[in-house]
Amino acid sequence: MSRDTFGSGLTLSLFGESHGPAIGCIIEGLRPGIAIDLDFMAVQLKRRRGADALSTPRREADEVRILSGVYQGRATGAALCLAIENKDVRSGDYQRTQDLLRPGHADYTARRKYMGFSDPRGGGHFSGRLTAPLVAAGSIFLRLLAEKGITLATRLLSCGGIADETAFSQEPAALAAQLAALAQAHFPTLSPEAGAAMAETIRAAATAGDSVGGILETAVPGLPAGLGEPFFGSVESTLSALLFSMPGVKGMEFGLGFGFASLRGSQANDPFRLQEGAIVTASNHNGGVNGGITNGMPLLLRTAVKPTPSIFVEQDTVDYSAMRECKLSLQGRHDPCVAHRAAVVQDSLVAFGLCDLLNQALGLTWQGGPDWPREAPWNMV
Ligand SMILES: Cc1cc2nc3c(=O)[nH]c(=O)nc-3n(C[C@H](O)[C@H](O)[C@H](O)COP(=O)(O)O)c2cc1C
Repeated sequence: MSRDTFGSGLTLSLFGESHGPAIGCIIEGLRPGIAIDLDFMAVQLKRRRGADALSTPRREADEVRILSGVYQGRATGAALCLAIENKDVRSGDYQRTQDLLRPGHADYTARRKYMGFSDPRGGGHFSGRLTAPLVAAGSIFLRLLAEKGITLATRLLSCGGIADETAFSQEPAALAAQLAALAQAHFPTLSPEAGAAMAETIRAAATAGDSVGGILETAVPGLPAGLGEPFFGSVESTLSALLFSMPGVKGMEFGLGFGFASLRGSQANDPFRLQEGAIVTASNHNGGVNGGITNGMPLLLRTAVKPTPSIFVEQDTVDYSAMRECKLSLQGRHDPCVAHRAAVVQDSLVAFGLCDLLNQALGLTWQGGPDWPREAPWNMV
């Protein structure tokens, strides 16, 4: 079986295959009457498509058809189903090598799990194409959060070994400005010079028929303290389950993450202090989460995205039908890097996870409603 539905308070179900007629999703748990902004949805989908030689040459219009749950631009409260047709499909590219297992992709594991019945064309259900409906749905969740003063954005912290040296600001207005710029960016770095160097590395990998990976970092200021449903619904458990569902994600950390392991407690702890009568912390090593619950400081998380598995360099593999070792020289259209395209997917999944947790804690009333817990006036400088 597969599990294509996630969420407790708010649920998202994903469907489709890369070369099937359409991909899409069903959302349940939206408050009746909330506005559905199709223009913003289109902007986000355009960001996911990526640009020029840095991304796949597959060109999809990503036109969203709302099949249910919206009337006169507003959610009805019934299941919202949206679909996106697959139009620029070239399944022939895969036919010559369809029995040759792509190293690093899901060709072998999908065959084993689904007993040979999974759709192999273009990676089928395991294609990065499935992230388009996630982004379409994410646009709705991002809008819901923004109405509550919760903004978030993701930047490429590193790519192909090149780092975006500029850090997220520790001051609210400056961080808000950084996030606003990233939320519009097609290649999201804080330093334009680092962005240009990363783009060059991706181009060089593409020219060599190879690929590169990267690290994505997300910041979410404005969350109220107290969000999260430990044990199994903690902020970290919820968001990591969602982000590890994104194809290509192989690592994740919150705050200092793996960096905690080499510190002493006296270096790792975030001291508490009072600011305008509210409890805040003087540093944010824990990335805004203690005990799986938000503490009112900005949520900070990172994912490691591996290099695209489909590369054009010749590789050793096995012919699954003939059961013999062979060489794989791939054809088809692939991203030389998926990390920059995945930034908007990460935004969408984080927004979904947070909305799910808000629905679990507060029911539907927080969506567009007046009642809202007080935000801590965090500031670390
Ligand atoms: C936006 C996006 C685009 C992707 N494009 C490709 C691609 O063109 N070729 C490819 O082999 N993998 C691509 N991937 C990654 C694969 O889907 C993924 O590596 C594969 O399903 C195996 O899963 P795993 O890496 O999580 O183990 C993409 C992922 C994302 C998020």
